[in-house]
Order: sequence, then structure tokens, then C-alpha cells
Amino acid sequence: MQVDNTQPCVMVIFGGTGDLTHTKLMPALYRLKMDALLPKMFHVIAVGRRDLTNDDYVQGIYNSVQESNELPIDEVTWSEFSKCIYYHRQTFDDDSGYAVLKEKLAALSSDCNVLYYLAVSPEYFETIVGKLGAHDMARKKGAWRRVVIEKPFGRNLKTAQYLNKRICDAFDEESVYRVDHYLGKSMLQNLLVIRFANIAFEAVWNKESIDHVQISACETVGVGTRGGYYERFGALRDMVQNHLVQMLMLIAVEPPKSFDEKHIRERKLAVLKHLIADNKKAKSVRGQYGEGENDGQLMKAYRSESLVAEDSDTETFAAMKLFINNERWRGVPFYLRTGKRMPAKTTQVMIEFKKQAEIMPSSQFGDCGPNRLIIKIHPEEGVAFEFNAKKPGTNDDIVPVQMNFCQHCHFGFNSPQAYERLLHDAMHGDATLFPSWDEIKSSWAFADQLSARWQNDAPDFPNYDAGTWGPQAAQELMSSDEREWWNKQ
Ligand SMILES: NC(=O)c1ccc[n+]([C@@H]2O[C@H](COP(=O)([O-])OP(=O)(O)OC[C@H]3O[C@@H](n4cnc5c(N)ncnc54)[C@H](OP(=O)(O)O)[C@@H]3O)[C@@H](O)[C@H]2O)c1
Repeated sequence: MQVDNTQPCVMVIFGGTGDLTHTKLMPALYRLKMDALLPKMFHVIAVGRRDLTNDDYVQGIYNSVQESNELPIDEVTWSEFSKCIYYHRQTFDDDSGYAVLKEKLAALSSDCNVLYYLAVSPEYFETIVGKLGAHDMARKKGAWRRVVIEKPFGRNLKTAQYLNKRICDAFDEESVYRVDHYLGKSMLQNLLVIRFANIAFEAVWNKESIDHVQISACETVGVGTRGGYYERFGALRDMVQNHLVQMLMLIAVEPPKSFDEKHIRERKLAVLKHLIADNKKAKSVRGQYGEGENDGQLMKAYRSESLVAEDSDTETFAAMKLFINNERWRGVPFYLRTGKRMPAKTTQVMIEFKKQAEIMPSSQFGDCGPNRLIIKIHPEEGVAFEFNAKKPGTNDDIVPVQMNFCQHCHFGFNSPQAYERLLHDAMHGDATLFPSWDEIKSSWAFADQLSARWQNDAPDFPNYDAGTWGPQAAQELMSSDEREWWNKQ
């Protein structure tokens, strides 16, 4: 995207002393500075509660950027960047703090554009946007004001609608950027390219050729210190409603009229409108990890984690079989799976094609396996294609082989972190990689439907051992052929 870096911009980070700012936002800003992608006149005001001098704050950020950077910090770039950072101390409900902040903004530039980033716990979203509105800081003639809201955006449809109303009381809808950081991941953006820039894939991207799709986001870690948060959200709200549904939409979209914000968002939304999560064929399974072992080390059960209730019914695993009831996809199962304490950390999409009708007799060549397209999103980034080939030798045996594209090996550098791309786009007014309110609304309606169904039965938790691929019932969502891939990652 060609962008105009000449427009001045001040970024105000609420939660400037928090983990997200230290580990993701500031390192991303530093790397954008390194790549000359920040506006020429750029300042960042970090709002925090702690009693810190500007120098203390900047030194803390230096340490965090250094920790998160693979290469040593470039001192010249840092010196320029650090001069743009201002620490502002206030609590979120303190009116006088907003008045001072407003003055600081005016002192930096009277007609400056402002990007507010809410890197704070969701309970503060409403307070902060309300105060920005009340202090006349959310709209300005002749300049833009945008607000970036971290996830989770609500806990269900009702709370999301309430929050959205509060935000839109202060800000115009087109100024609201709701983060799903998965959309900032380079391979997620590649999903559309792999399909639409390659006739070999686009021509067979339909129910006639595709047998089923598997979308997984699995973690080896447990909830760690986030037990309090996780108890309120669980896997469905923490991962499925946002990240997995976003991946599903990107896989299943109809070709957009053009690849811009409006048309891509429209097409994604259309997928959700046809999503079937609740009929005889569409099924879901939830799980919670019990104790397990890894390399001889005992792993705690979820119910023994800190800030988790001893009889918690929160799911740490969710898997589902869904259908999209439209011309392209009718009858093709989409499997979604996410879980904590799985055997491997992997986020990927696997598209399995239908088996070739038997042109080459199995009696002579053996069985042909299906073609599989595997899009690796994290931690590996790349694409693999599995197809059939003749095994060298005097026999006619056909065996499955793989072609591999490793993004890092091919391009020789790591792809930018998700937050680099997202911050860059928010500063330049491109919301394509931010879910629209309509998408969020529809994906909450979908999650609420599943959640309501789960409320009908008390779960028999824990139902999988830490370090395994989840409960047995998740296996039973699939046919034995489909399970082969599911279990071999
Ligand atoms: N951390 C991540 O990697 C990550 C990833 C994805 C999404 N998120 C989302 O990002 C948001 C922030 O997460 P986080 O991990 O950065 O949280 P965090 O480390 O707990 O930071 C919270 C920030 O809010 C400030 N704060 C809290 N109450 C305040 C008050 N009343 N007045 C003024 N400041 C107050 C804290 O200031 P003090 O430190 O001075 O108390 C701190 O700067 C959350 O919505 C989270 O879900 C985080």
C-alpha cells in the first residue's frame, strides 16, 4: 500500500506501563521507525498510573525493545525514536488528567491527528472512551481522531453491543479500529493471495473439489497467570469467536469486487450469515485439561491453576464441525479446533481435496492419498502441498510427497510482527485488517448460540489429559480418514 507519511500523528497509549505496550506496541513502533514507516512528525504519549519520570519510562521501554528484538538496537534510530516518547501520569477516571492530556496534545501540534490505543483491561474501555468524548477529544474538525480497542470486545453479543454503543457515542464508527491481532499475521493476509493469485487453487476452491477444511490454533501452555481472565472467557470466547472465525471467513469468502476494506469486509460478513453451527450435522465439543505429563514433568490440571475455581466449568478446549450453507460450500465440513496444553504449538489451516476418481487402478499403483494444502500460520510460516508421485524404482507404487514453501527461508527475513502491520494501518486509516462491527456482532451471535447449547448439559470436566489432543469426543466429530491429519501434526 502506498501511504502518505507526511501527515503528523500523535499516538496516545492508555496502559502505557502495561505488558502489551512493553512487549508488542513499543517494539512495533521502533521497528516501524527503523523501516521509515512512521509519520515524519510522530509522537507517542504513554498514559500510566505509576510514578515514573520520563527518563525512567523511556529507559524501561528501551529494555523491552531490546528484549523483543533479535538484533541489537540501532542506537541512532533509538535516539530519534526516544525523543518522541512522553510519559503522562493519570488514572483513567481522573478528569483533570484528561484536561492536561488535551493541553499536551495541543502543545505538540494544534491540528494534529490522534490515534488513541486502549491497551487496558476491557473493564476500562467504557470509562476511557466516555471521558475522551466528554472532554471533546474524540472528534476534531480538520484532523482525524481514531481509537483502537484491544480484544476482548465484549463477552457476548449483549455486552459487545453495549460497549459498541458507548464507543460510538464518542467516536464515529469509521474511526473505531477493533483489534484481532491474528489479522495482522503475515500468513493470514496470505490466505487471500494464495487462493486468488493462483488459478491452481482458485479453480478448485469449492465443494466439488474440497473434501473438508481443518482450522487449528493449538497451544502447549496452560493458562499461566491469566486464570482470572480465562475463567470469564474460556476457549470459545478467547479464541473461537474471534481468531478462528476470522480464519474461517478468510478461507471461505467469495471473490471480492475489489481488495479494499469495504468489499473484503462485506464478503467476510456474508460467510458468517451462512454459517451453520447448530443442526444435526454441525456439532461441537468442549474440554478442560486435567493433570498430565511432559518429559517426565507433571503438568497441573486447569482446576489447580492460580485464580481458577476448584470446580470450574470453563472450557480450555473447543472443537466443532460447521457448515456454510451457500452454493460454494454446501456439505463441506469446516472443523475448528483450539486448545491449551496440546502436544504441539501450531496455528494452521489444512484444506483437504477430494480423492481423485480412480484413473490409475489401485490394484496396480496402490491407493492414492488426497491432495492437501497446508497453510502454516504460526510458529512456522509457509505453505505445504501434499500430492501423489511415483516412488522411484521398478515398481509402479504411488506415494504421498510434499512441496514446501518456507516464508522465512525464501525471503531471508522474519515477517513483521502482527502489531507492526496493525499500527501502521491504523495510522494510515486502512481498517481492512480490523474486524468491522458487523463481523463482531455476527461472530458473537454464533458464539452465543454454541454457548447456550453448552449450558444445557453439565460438562464432565476434566476430560482430557494435559499434553494430549483433547477429549475423545473431539475425535468423534470426524471420520477416521479426516482424523488421520488431525492427529499427525
Ligand atoms: N499482553 C499481551 O500480550 C496482550 C495480547 C493481546 C491482547 N491483550 C489485551 O491488551 C489489554 C492490555 O493487556 P496487558 O497485558 O498490557 O495488561 P496489563 O499488563 O495489566 O496493563 C494494564 C495497564 O493499565 C494500567 N491501568 C490499570 N488500571 C488503571 C487505572 N485505573 N488508571 C490508569 N491506568 C491503569 C496499568 O497501569 P499500571 O501498570 O501503572 O498499574 C497498565 O499500564 C487487555 O485488554 C488484554 O486483553 C494483551
